[in-house]
Amino acid sequence: MSEHRAAWTRHQKYLCVVDALGLELDPSRMTALGGEAAFDAALRELEAPMRAAFEAMDALEKGAEANPDEKRMVGHYWLRDAARAPSPALRSAIENTVARIEAFTWDVHDGQLVGSNGAKFTDLLVIGIGGSALGPQLVSRALGRADDKLVVSFFDNTDPDGMDLVLARLAPRLASTLVVVVSKSGGTKETRNGMLEARWAFERAGLAFAKHFVAVTGEGSALDQTAEKEGWIARFPMWDWVGGRTSELSAVGLLPAALQGIDIRAILEGAHDADVATRVHDLRKNPAALLAACWHFAGEGKGKRDMVILPYKDRLELFSRYLQQLVMESLGKERDLKGRLVNQGIAVYGNKGSTDQHAYVQQLREGVPNFFATFLEVLRDRDGASKEVDPGATSGDYLFGFLLGTRSALSEKGRPSLTLTIEEVSPRTVGVLIALFERAVGLYASLVGINAYHQPGVEAGKKAAGEVLALQAKILAHFAHKPAAENTETIATAIGTDDLETTHKLCAHLAANGRLAREGRGPSAKFKKA
Ligand code: PA5
Repeated sequence: MSEHRAAWTRHQKYLCVVDALGLELDPSRMTALGGEAAFDAALRELEAPMRAAFEAMDALEKGAEANPDEKRMVGHYWLRDAARAPSPALRSAIENTVARIEAFTWDVHDGQLVGSNGAKFTDLLVIGIGGSALGPQLVSRALGRADDKLVVSFFDNTDPDGMDLVLARLAPRLASTLVVVVSKSGGTKETRNGMLEARWAFERAGLAFAKHFVAVTGEGSALDQTAEKEGWIARFPMWDWVGGRTSELSAVGLLPAALQGIDIRAILEGAHDADVATRVHDLRKNPAALLAACWHFAGEGKGKRDMVILPYKDRLELFSRYLQQLVMESLGKERDLKGRLVNQGIAVYGNKGSTDQHAYVQQLREGVPNFFATFLEVLRDRDGASKEVDPGATSGDYLFGFLLGTRSALSEKGRPSLTLTIEEVSPRTVGVLIALFERAVGLYASLVGINAYHQPGVEAGKKAAGEVLALQAKILAHFAHKPAAENTETIATAIGTDDLETTHKLCAHLAANGRLAREGRGPSAKFKKA
């Protein structure tokens, strides 16, 4: 049999088709790792653990405490099927929030709700980070149109220069800019800083900022209290049973999307239908389970191969960044549920095809074989017809050809890949993709026995940054009255730390920003009051 015929036979053997979603998942090229026998054996071996994963997922959906470290339920699946929420109170909280988002959006679009000087809103600035930004960014990019109801910008960092650029672009329309500040905890410093920087921009422009600001946050959080005290236009809830990286279908993602003019009911419906399809207790017919099984096979259950995400569609270019957080923050764990050291995770990266073919795909084909690719194939090229750029071929035909060509080029070299096919990029299919990967991550976490729903590493980073800023406060206090120039050693001794490197870096940063003066460079540099 020719290799082409053999590939077609494998394609038919392993293909998972979900008609209701217009989705196909083709894992046949994973057989590049050890052949069909190895892949078949792996799928067989995973059947029993996957049955346990299905049961754990069923319990999670019924409200079990699936995040034991934080003693929390995990309820993102209820967001698109409120009837599944474990109590009538949660059900009505979910339904009321979607209704409030729609009513609020209507008021904004209709000009019932206007800026502080009466201008109809034209722009939306979303301020958040991590799970409070990546989903909104993905959806905004995937589903934005030239005639969006509001033009969306983001602050997703505490980089002053990055914020200046966004604010400079917004400056001519600041009076008609609505700001949505998103933070589940309401205490994340990057988001708090972004909120303050935006607020000062409104104040400088002589605008009553509170009449432009909306909060999405946990009830009673610092952000919630600020928004209430300052009389912001509205506050929308974020619940402790929804994790940041699975919050796109809560107010976190739905409010910005609705304001942009995106059909949020269609996103919710897509996610709902994907949930129905991925609740099926059959590894080969459930695309989320099959994905999780392929990840397990590729990385031997230890994340030994990286997941490269290659959507051949500009609109999905942020999907890899979104998945990077969803997968790596969920699966990248030191210990399993029994407390054993496991150092789990799967590294995720990618961007888009065919652009990446002109970048790192060279290494994928010929370099270190430490990955498996996930091709995301979108069948529909564009709204309307295409002109031919060559006889019989459109730009879209080229894009499609590059996908198929790269996939074959990888297979020829024994490099494994998965192919996920959707008909088009639409609110519904974006909902499908979000739900599909959320469940795949949850099932994989069960296979390897870890808690996918906490993030102790993120908290550790936040704590360490707090310690650095406390050290900086000591340096500034030390220099408040010191005219003499001092080297790092002297400064560190005076403020009572042996962390010379951090002390030196803090002084250099303060000097670069005109808050200290510096004489010389490198370790022997001296610093004094500016
Ligand atoms: O997924 C997560 O839990 C994190 O990435 C958070 O979303 C991120 O740290 C931001 O947190 P918060 O929404 O509390 O500001």
